[in-house]
Amino acid sequence: MTASESWGDAARALADKVAANALEWHEAVSETPRHLLVPHWWERVPNSPTEEWELVAHAEDSRARIAAVYGDETLVTRVGPLHADHAKAEQRAAGSPTSSSTLPSLIVSMMHRLNAEPGHQVLDVGTGSGYALSLFARRLGDEYVTSVDVDPYLVEAARARLAAFGRIPRIEAIDATGELPEPAYDRIMATVSVRP
Ligand SMILES: C[S@@+](CC[C@H](N)C(=O)[O-])C[C@H]1O[C@@H](n2cnc3c(N)ncnc32)[C@H](O)[C@@H]1O
Repeated sequence: MTASESWGDAARALADKVAANALEWHEAVSETPRHLLVPHWWERVPNSPTEEWELVAHAEDSRARIAAVYGDETLVTRVGPLHADHAKAEQRAAGSPTSSSTLPSLIVSMMHRLNAEPGHQVLDVGTGSGYALSLFARRLGDEYVTSVDVDPYLVEAARARLAAFGRIPRIEAIDATGELPEPAYDRIMATVSVRP
C-alpha cells in the first residue's frame, strides 16, 4: 500500500467523522491531502519534567503518517522558534507550541459556523500548515481566499505545498494585528491567539 493508494480512503473516513454535521465541507475534507501539508511534527514526551517534545518524521508513504494525519489530531509543528521541518533526526525541543495544524474537527466546526458561501471573499488568519486554507480553497475557489501568517517560512512552505496539488490561493506574510491585505472580506476566520 502506498500513500497515494491509501490517503484518499483515510481522508474520506476523516470527512465522515468530522463533517457529519457540516456536510457542505465533506468533499473538501475528503479531497485534501493533509499528509502533504504536515510532513513533520512534534509529539509531547510523556511525563517530561519540562515541556519536552520529540520529532515525528515518518516516510510520506508510511501507514503511521497516514494514520496520524487523518486521525483528527492537532499536530504541533513548531515549538518555540523551532519548526519540525528544520529539526534534525532524534532532535528534541523544549517549550510551548507556537504553530500547529489545528484539529480538523475544530476547523470544520468553525467553518460551518462561519457560514461562508460560494462567492464570499474569506480571510484565513494563521496559515500554519495551510490545512484550513486548503479546505477553504477547495470549496470556495483559490481566488476567493486569502491567508496570512506572521511567519514567512510558513507562508513559503504552505504556498509550495498547496501548489504541489494545484491550489494557488493568495498567501501573505503579515502580522494580522496590523493592516490586513485588500480586498474587503465577507468572512474572517482566525486560528490564532493574540496577546492583548
Ligand atoms: C494554530 S496555527 C494555525 C493553524 C492553521 N489554521 C492550520 O490549519 O494549520 C496559528 C498560526 O498563527 C500564526 N500567528 C501567530 N500570531 C500571528 C499574527 N499576529 N498574525 C498572523 N499570524 C499569526 C502562527 O505563526 C501560527 O502559524
